[in-house]
Amino acid sequence: MASPTSGIVDIHTHMYPPSYVEIMESRTTIPIVRKFPQASDPRLILLEEEVKSLEDALKDPQAKVPGRPLTTHYSSVQQKIHFMDTHGIQKSVVSLANPWLDFLDASESPAIAKKINEEFSDLCGQYPRRLFFFAALPLTASLEDILGSVEHVRGLKYCRGVILGTSGLGKGLDDPRLLPVYKALAESKLPIFLHPHYGLPSEVWGDRAGEYGHVLPLALGFPMETTIAVTRMFLAGVFDEVRELQIILAHSGGTLPFLAGRIESCVVHDGQLLREGKLAKSRRTVWDVLKEQIYLDAVVYSPASLKLAAESSGADRVMFGTDHPFFPPLETDEQGEWESVTWNTAAIKKATEGKSAETEAILGGNATRVLRLDEEF
Ligand code: URA
Ligand code: ZN
Repeated sequence: MASPTSGIVDIHTHMYPPSYVEIMESRTTIPIVRKFPQASDPRLILLEEEVKSLEDALKDPQAKVPGRPLTTHYSSVQQKIHFMDTHGIQKSVVSLANPWLDFLDASESPAIAKKINEEFSDLCGQYPRRLFFFAALPLTASLEDILGSVEHVRGLKYCRGVILGTSGLGKGLDDPRLLPVYKALAESKLPIFLHPHYGLPSEVWGDRAGEYGHVLPLALGFPMETTIAVTRMFLAGVFDEVRELQIILAHSGGTLPFLAGRIESCVVHDGQLLREGKLAKSRRTVWDVLKEQIYLDAVVYSPASLKLAAESSGADRVMFGTDHPFFPPLETDEQGEWESVTWNTAAIKKATEGKSAETEAILGGNATRVLRLDEEF
């Protein structure tokens, strides 16, 4: 299963390269980078749930500082390598962090995508065999420009796939207009790394949400967003239509492994689907798709969840990740060990206890095989 020499590979690790930080610095709405007199580091404000505290802080210099500190962990490649070395990570497949290029105007997104993807390519070139990347697509642009971007990134030496949010062309990932993009990615052997950003509508968190930090949107909103997006793709028949499409789901698929049985039951008990002839005996189930077209990252922080992920997709389809530079330690030195990493390595080891081939596969062998990390091109 795993090559014992693969070592640890991190497939869920982000950066905002310097030119992206410049874009965020020039903005007045989220995503935004801004300095506040109350804090030494510039602040990175990304999520809808942070808008209120941004507005408060702009009005009142005594107010709580919004967002999170934009430390060197977000944009320095040397810092990424230091982080990898600290945690024994041999290779990383870095990706632009959310919200990618989703907020850019159609007139500017293709050129910015080209620049940022080349910047990633150059960063990887500084550490050959250690760094690879998932490219970002200019999804607000025309189909022709998006397909042009796929063509561009497939030629970049260290590119091993694309990172995608759930908004697609504005109407989600079950939008039929995306089929040519999925087909182009499948033909180019570029897997999609599907990652959340938008969560759920803020109202679901209730009136007291402000008391709970970012726990609800990050712990629950993000995984539900991913689950909904991929289930819509499944129901729309995307996986049958594009049989070669491969998709890696962030945070172990949100809640997909846990809910797959319920999704199946709801499908086979749906009168409308029956009447429309969508329940043929030969239909592929969620379980089939999980085992044939879906990979799951291992960013779930618990052995029980990890076991479920490995059982649902197969231990040969689960891949270690860190989510660096998010979730830094709050009370210990950021240059040292991060618990958000050690929890995940411990969960993998515990979940695969006594099965060292599976441990090695999840820690690095699967990523090396699936993302061709032994190949330079
Ligand atoms: N918060 C984010 O905005 N993105 C991540 O990837 C993780 C936490
Ligand atoms: Zn992430």
